[in-house]
Amino acid sequence: MKKMIAANWKMYKTRREAVQTTAGIITNILGKRLEDREFVIFAPFTALQSCADVLNAEASGSRLFLGAQDVYPAGEGAFTGEISPVMLLDCSCAWVLAGHSERRHLLGESDEFIGKKTAFALESGLNVVLCIGETLVERESGQLERVLSGQMSAGLAAVPKDIKPSRLVFAYEPVWAIGTGKVAGSEEIMEAHALVRRLIKNFFPLQYAHMRILYGGSVKPDNAGQLIKLDNVDGLLVGGASMEAESFSRIALA
Ligand code: PGA
Repeated sequence: MKKMIAANWKMYKTRREAVQTTAGIITNILGKRLEDREFVIFAPFTALQSCADVLNAEASGSRLFLGAQDVYPAGEGAFTGEISPVMLLDCSCAWVLAGHSERRHLLGESDEFIGKKTAFALESGLNVVLCIGETLVERESGQLERVLSGQMSAGLAAVPKDIKPSRLVFAYEPVWAIGTGKVAGSEEIMEAHALVRRLIKNFFPLQYAHMRILYGGSVKPDNAGQLIKLDNVDGLLVGGASMEAESFSRIALA
């Protein structure tokens, strides 16, 4: 199972900036002996094609992939402002995020809607990183298991049981650790990841051991090396520290 290190650029970067950062990442990480890793850049929609051009020209055949941060669960139609899986595949995207906490909490996406996106994206040929995580209030009131289990049941409701395990990745991102500089403690991370592994087993009893669980929330170059070694941590989803090629590359190589 290859560890996945993913960059989430959120609503940052013009095309020019995205191309520069992508080129910097390619320079820093390609050619390094990292057979056990793969990398994804989740760029904003407007920069996807520009990033794809750089990746296709300079990193084709490598394990550096392009992803989108969101998708609408329909092939095409009258959905003003939305982007379909076909459009993402047309921009060379291999991956898409579903259920990032900023979409759940700032944009009001429901667990059910995220489930529709997850299933439709997978069915359309995209690979999915399904993000889950609790707020501080939920954690402090003892609801970690209830929240994660609810997000996963709805998120996976329509995903076929025989999905190839490498195509569906989970990202545990405690909401209180995202963009706050407060990385979760090792014990908290291992406990939550073990819980996520058990929950995955309920849905995919045959493949659960081969599905990756990423940690996300204030990952930085100086904590990445320790985080990536924790039990059941199969990769990292990085926001703020992924914006600069240098900083993301240090995490990727950690
Ligand atoms: P952060 O964001 O690394 O800035 O905390 C993580 C994420 O949003 O996926």
